[in-house]
Amino acid sequence: MSQMNRRRFLRTGGAVLAASSLPFSVVELAFGQSGPEDFSFAFISDSHITHIKGDKFVRNWDRGMIQAVAEANLLSPRPDFVFYGGDIAQLGTPEEIDHGLEILSGLRGDVHHVMGEHDYYLDLGEHWRKRIGPDHYSFDHKGVHFVVLNSILTYDEWTHRKWDTPMQRMKEMARLDNPDGSPFMVGDSQREWLRKDLANISKDTPIVVMSHSPLQKIYRGWNFWTEDAEQVQELLKPFDKVTVLYGHVHQIQYNQIGNISFHAAMATAWPWPYPETFVQEASYLPKLTVEMSRADPFFERDGTGWQFINMHTGDVDVHYALPDNENRVVAFNEQQDKPVDSLYQDESKQIPPQDHY
Ligand SMILES: [Fe+2]
Ligand SMILES: [Fe+2]
Repeated sequence: MSQMNRRRFLRTGGAVLAASSLPFSVVELAFGQSGPEDFSFAFISDSHITHIKGDKFVRNWDRGMIQAVAEANLLSPRPDFVFYGGDIAQLGTPEEIDHGLEILSGLRGDVHHVMGEHDYYLDLGEHWRKRIGPDHYSFDHKGVHFVVLNSILTYDEWTHRKWDTPMQRMKEMARLDNPDGSPFMVGDSQREWLRKDLANISKDTPIVVMSHSPLQKIYRGWNFWTEDAEQVQELLKPFDKVTVLYGHVHQIQYNQIGNISFHAAMATAWPWPYPETFVQEASYLPKLTVEMSRADPFFERDGTGWQFINMHTGDVDVHYALPDNENRVVAFNEQQDKPVDSLYQDESKQIPPQDHY
């Protein structure tokens, strides 16, 4: 083992050890027998499995997903389930989706999936649905109501344009800063489904919504944006505690809008820079977010990671497991009524974002 590999192997082992020994696992009953119980789940996202040809896939993206699966399996006590936040594939092919699912099949316990644009725009989600199931649904777990939304739909006129090939449509949607792209949305029919789904849920039931794109507007040029975000937020407004967890942005982001807390997932594939380091139009990164340092290109796993989520009394603590960086915890703070990075509350202790290498 080279010195570099050995160092990185030891670091990875350390991350696993730290993840498995964090004290998030103490289970407490919050409001007696009928209230939400404490529990945890793992959250892995954006692996962008990329097919080369035959049985060859881009190794680096495979490794990110394999590492997240291995570490999630070592959590003790076991998370109740795993959430996969979308973009399992890079170009939406059956080979990529099947290969990603093969790696994820190593996870212990149930896995819930949300659809990403890279899973969708080749065949409009046909293979994904065949292998995984519906793209929007809800379920209840230990007093918390979970909702899965497909937030990466767009205008029908764009989706059903006369494309030369379905792959052309996929590649157009995969591009950043594409003037011929189209914004994501949940859409009328899913919002109507959500309205009905929430109609019978009591207002003090904690709600957790899983989406791929942020259900808030951050940066339109990269589709860090959902066109009908405000309309979805409106449906969530009557509830006491709402958390939206999302993938797509490949970076730590968190925010609080009214009653809704927002947390983004790291990708296991690669990090995106923060939009304001690259803006070509207005960017609205939440002021609350303490940015992480930019990725170091000499470490292939730097800026990547996965999350484990501690749900307690209906609020969410996000523990970011970062293989080549300091782990981070962004926890809901009841006094301040918003998510706070527990390591960086004191401004003098904050690590300033790194604008260049
Ligand atoms: Fe992604
Ligand atoms: Fe995405």
